[in-house]
Amino acid sequence: MPSFSPPDPHPSGARPPAIPAQFVPQHVAVVMDGNGRWANERGLPRNEGHKAGEASLVDVVAGAIEMGIPYVSAYAFSTENWKRSLDEVSFIMRFTVDVLTRQLPTLQSWGVRILWAGRKPKLWKSVIKQLEFCEEQTKDNTACTLVMCVNYGGRAEIADAAAQIAHDVSEGKVKPGDISERKFAQYLYNPEVPDVDLFLRSSGEQRTSNFLLWQSAYAEMIFFDILWPDVDRLTLWDAVEEYARRDRRYGGAQDAIASPSDSSTHSSGK
Ligand code: IPE
Ligand code: IPE
Ligand code: MG
Repeated sequence: MPSFSPPDPHPSGARPPAIPAQFVPQHVAVVMDGNGRWANERGLPRNEGHKAGEASLVDVVAGAIEMGIPYVSAYAFSTENWKRSLDEVSFIMRFTVDVLTRQLPTLQSWGVRILWAGRKPKLWKSVIKQLEFCEEQTKDNTACTLVMCVNYGGRAEIADAAAQIAHDVSEGKVKPGDISERKFAQYLYNPEVPDVDLFLRSSGEQRTSNFLLWQSAYAEMIFFDILWPDVDRLTLWDAVEEYARRDRRYGGAQDAIASPSDSSTHSSGK
């Protein structure tokens, strides 16, 4: 039986905010953006920013474990990132293998289960091999699930699910009339991973860039101006505190009629 130990506390000694369990997100999606700008601002090439971002990811996972967040999805390489220079793409491919190799013992010691979400075509064989090795090595871990999204695209995932459903219909395994939202979700890359509660993006950009489109239909979005290499678990905890204050209505509505004495706070100024 492997023995697990919790992550070391944050170097500042900070502890996670005390938030009632029902307001802790079950799935946090993280767009790790801003590495290139972080490096260029320091007169360094973009790849130095990717290197500096490794510690941020590990610290955010530590913070998720400390807060009891069961699922974290990390956007590491999108289906659109192949547009970058050959130098940068090759670096990211090799670096992804290195990060997984370097961090596996730590993640394993914390009890983290690693999953991969993404498409195989085009992705380097060495990356697929290492992702699958990590999945196998950590499959029984229960402290937190880290979904590494590599060669991932939300539209690709939905198109792949549709293609697989069409295949199963053609084989008579599924009837067209049985295709519901629930059925469709069973064809996503990791169907057991719940919908995204909290969608985070660093670097100030306010867009999804094709991340977890299906799963984020009702996610709370938080965009912050910090570049990814400057993010750590404190950034995650701040975001979770804001998330806990949000009113999630899912399309529902309830009367909350102001009493006459409150009316001055909502007056139109007339
Ligand atoms: C995110 O940082 C990492 C990847 C997309 C692989 P960027 O490389 O996009 O950094 P910026 O956004 O150009 O600063
Ligand atoms: C999204 O960031 C992809 C990852 C963080 C892996 P990008 O930097 O690729 O997205 P855009 O180009 O700003 O939309
Ligand atoms: Mg970017």
